[in-house]
Amino acid sequence: MQVTLKIFRYNPEVDTTFHYESYVIENAQETDRVLDLLEHVKGYNDGTLSFRRSCAHGVCGSDALRINGRNMLACKALVRDVGEKITIEPLLGLKVVKDLIVDMEPFFDNYKKVLPWFINDSPLPADGRERLQSPEQRARFDDTTKCIMCAACTTSCPSFWASDDYLGPAALVAAHRFVFDSRDEAAAERMEIVSETSGLARCHTAFNCTMACPREIQITKAIGELKMATITGRVE
Ligand code: SF4
Ligand code: F3S
Ligand code: FES
Repeated sequence: MQVTLKIFRYNPEVDTTFHYESYVIENAQETDRVLDLLEHVKGYNDGTLSFRRSCAHGVCGSDALRINGRNMLACKALVRDVGEKITIEPLLGLKVVKDLIVDMEPFFDNYKKVLPWFINDSPLPADGRERLQSPEQRARFDDTTKCIMCAACTTSCPSFWASDDYLGPAALVAAHRFVFDSRDEAAAERMEIVSETSGLARCHTAFNCTMACPREIQITKAIGELKMATITGRVE
């Protein structure tokens, strides 16, 4: 089959503004991934086309792009799902560095603010065993452990578009993962951070984040659980 790609192009060294270029690929397969098509264009049409990728298997989170207007991982988007005419653009709300590559620093700066790492300074049990947790306690935050930090959620959120100092759903997912971990001791500190004006209050339950997540994390639900914890003071 024939597939036409319309790709956002911008090279800050020569362009004053962005433009789109179209590429026709003959003999594409309906099982090709959009990432395969981008590799084809880079290999056969224009080696200067710039985009991020690493694992090519939905694990690293580096190739989140806007594909026909929706945030997706290029390595998980199949031609049969997105159609024969495919518009590919960089994520919204982050500065374009070149072509499909955006500056992820503001995203990671917000992410780091919620202390997205395990904190427990208490000594380990005297018998030398690890800190124990019941299956129910582990299940409490299982969904939010699946995040691959692709930014598809945050860059689909209208509140983030309006103000990039909003922590954003990805950072709140990371906060949820540790706040509800029974072994972690910094829940109060994290709840204070997400309760600031740049945090939970900026989420207006738009659900774009949940729709965009390639890991199918129930993001809006997780944010709702954090909001509830600010009211009840309970993080169990
Ligand atoms: Fe990506 Fe989902 Fe993590 Fe957001 S929550 S960064 S969409 S994996
Ligand atoms: Fe944004 Fe998701 Fe809330 S899209 S407004 S963070 S539900
Ligand atoms: Fe790693 Fe797509 S290239 S998630």
